Amino acid sequence: MAVAERLGARWPPSRFLFVVVVLLVLMADGALLRGEAMSVGINYGQIADNLPSPSRVSWLLRSMQVSKVKLYDADPHVLGAFADTGVEFVVGIGNENVSAMMDPSAARAWIQRHVQPFLPNTRITCITVGNEVFKGNDTALKANLLPAMESVYQALGALGLRGRVNVTTAHSLDIMGNSFPPSAGAFRGDVVPYMQPILGFLAMAGSPFLINCYPYFAYKADPGNVPLDYVLFRPNAGVTDASTRLTYDNMLYAQVDSVYAAIQALGHTDIDVKISETGWPSKGDPDEAGATPEYAGTYIGNLLQRIQMKQGTPMRPSVPIDVYVFALFNENMKPGPASERNYGLYYPDGTPVYNVGFRGYLPPMDDMEYSESTRKAVHLLALILILIASIALNLS
Ligand SMILES: *[C@@H]1O[C@H](CO)[C@@H](O)[C@H](O)[C@H]1NC(C)=O
Ligand SMILES: *[C@@H]1O[C@H](CO)[C@@H](O)[C@H](O)[C@H]1NC(C)=O
Ligand SMILES: *[C@@H]1O[C@H](CO)[C@@H](O)[C@H](O)[C@H]1NC(C)=O
Repeated sequence: MAVAERLGARWPPSRFLFVVVVLLVLMADGALLRGEAMSVGINYGQIADNLPSPSRVSWLLRSMQVSKVKLYDADPHVLGAFADTGVEFVVGIGNENVSAMMDPSAARAWIQRHVQPFLPNTRITCITVGNEVFKGNDTALKANLLPAMESVYQALGALGLRGRVNVTTAHSLDIMGNSFPPSAGAFRGDVVPYMQPILGFLAMAGSPFLINCYPYFAYKADPGNVPLDYVLFRPNAGVTDASTRLTYDNMLYAQVDSVYAAIQALGHTDIDVKISETGWPSKGDPDEAGATPEYAGTYIGNLLQRIQMKQGTPMRPSVPIDVYVFALFNENMKPGPASERNYGLYYPDGTPVYNVGFRGYLPPMDDMEYSESTRKAVHLLALILILIASIALNLS
């Protein structure tokens, strides 16, 4: 108050108010455009026939202050809608296209068509080659994965993009043969021959290891014995790993550390582990325990708090967890049990499924596409008006 009074004494109250309003507008606008508040990422899946247009989603994500988005493809409409927003993108090459990428010219053509045209305006920083390849039974695909990753990496180099775009793949947790206690984490025997050279590639290329982690699956499989507090990040005594003496108060961190241990067992301490998917369904079939909005909100809300605290896992306390939440929307066309269609933070109409403090806003424009150039023009006009008003007030 003292400051305001002092300023008020020198400036007429109306001008003081005006300056405050201008500052607030600039601050709010700047935060919206840069989306600098949250270091959480969101998976933007589109297996649905009722989702809003990418340009509306661009507003929603920026109003949520989300600065990282992961796609399962490289949808040009999405990448275009996020030009000049500063939002960072992971784009994906689907499993059906992995083998074709072994051909260097195909890899090069894919990048030239799906990545290069959007750079640098849209910040694409990572390409995932395949998703959960070791979950399936396609042995040709498993064998082709690394050559495809190498080919994409070479193509990035040839196009002068190496260092600006990482190349990796995302795994499901069932690559693990053992994940408890975390220090005894080990890959499945049949996965090791593929994983050993993949780790060599990731270390050489300086790319992260991506893992999709769902403590929900463990709870659903055995709700009578898996403590809900431990999977939902609620206060609990935790579990101590006897060989490291490290205590885990939640299952997600134990899963991540088991992956670090498995990687280390194959000779690598030089690879970052990032969580490319985690989430909790808000609804499920009658036999899917724990799929409620209350538990989903608790899981995501508590996870966001830990991300904001920049916590690391017990084995890597100084490396803040890096997480992409699954998923932005409920996706009505996903196959499988009901839970699969109910992982979204939002319904397709932009209303939140539960409240975890995202202040997301989906603009109600269905037909009129509010393009990026319109947004920029409005922004520029506002700045010019403010400038003119400031000058006028100073001269008066
Ligand atoms: C990816 O695979 C689909 C289905 O086989 C095919 O139609 C499409 O052309 C492929 N895309 C690229 C870029 O290779
Ligand atoms: C893979 O093969 C095993 C054994 O043949 C079978 O039990 C399993 O269901 C298969 N998995 C998939 C994803 O097809
Ligand atoms: C690539 O991944 C590494 C390891 O996680 C990270 O340090 C680096 O910032 C990433 N590069 C880009 C362009 O995001």
